[in-house]
Amino acid sequence: MKLAWLTDVHLNFVGRSAVEELCNAIRLSGVDAVMITGDLASSKHLYQYLDYLADGLKMPIYFILGNHDYYGSSIHQVNFEVGGGVKARENLFWLSRSGVVELTPDICLIGHEGLADGRLGNPNDSDVMLNDYYQIEELRQPSKELRLEVQHKLGDEAAAYLKEQLREAVGVRQYKSVIVALHVPPFAEACWHEGNLSDANFLPHFGCKATGEVLREYAQNFPAVDFVVYCGHTHSPGYAEILPNLKVHTAGAEYGQPRIERILCFD
Ligand SMILES: [Fe+2]
Ligand SMILES: [Fe+2]
Repeated sequence: MKLAWLTDVHLNFVGRSAVEELCNAIRLSGVDAVMITGDLASSKHLYQYLDYLADGLKMPIYFILGNHDYYGSSIHQVNFEVGGGVKARENLFWLSRSGVVELTPDICLIGHEGLADGRLGNPNDSDVMLNDYYQIEELRQPSKELRLEVQHKLGDEAAAYLKEQLREAVGVRQYKSVIVALHVPPFAEACWHEGNLSDANFLPHFGCKATGEVLREYAQNFPAVDFVVYCGHTHSPGYAEILPNLKVHTAGAEYGQPRIERILCFD
């Protein structure tokens, strides 16, 4: 089973020919399916791109959204539209709605956006203002305190969903290996940014502590199961081994240069 991992392709920054080139590269790679870990575009043309990929690739596309996919709209509205759209497409699987996906009899895939929950690093002193806090309706708040409340809630929702999927994947269906697709790195050790680990000022915006806590709990409780996270968001590549059975791959990305990040092979 071969999976093309793509992340942070930001297709709204490139022309139609670059999107077609990307589709060609995926078709030529001989993969069985595609996994996209968020930041496909921005809200305005998001579903158009998903539709185009679904049409052009004619293979399962397992995806989650990233913070940029909500730009210019609200999380509520985009989720509503994407939720309706995927129903009309049999090869689009939105992992934060589709539940546990079997890749091989031993390996499954789960995922969630898991947006930054403002808990890692030093949120109280951080002066970073991402575009998210202007561009995404729910995060546009009159004070940092109110915005952090929203971010905490989003993190808790992501963690609750992930926990349910992990329970199903390892507690019920007993997969030996779980692939976890997230947009935002779930641990400070995986928040690579411009070649280094993020500092306390940026960590609240680059990581999701709540999803990391759930993953750590499951990895500790199920030491015979492998948990491998694939995430993006920070556009800087890195690898972190959190526990012997819990590893995180963070992808690099460049605006204007969408590409296959890696081909993952599962036996
Ligand atoms: Fe991105
Ligand atoms: Fe992002």
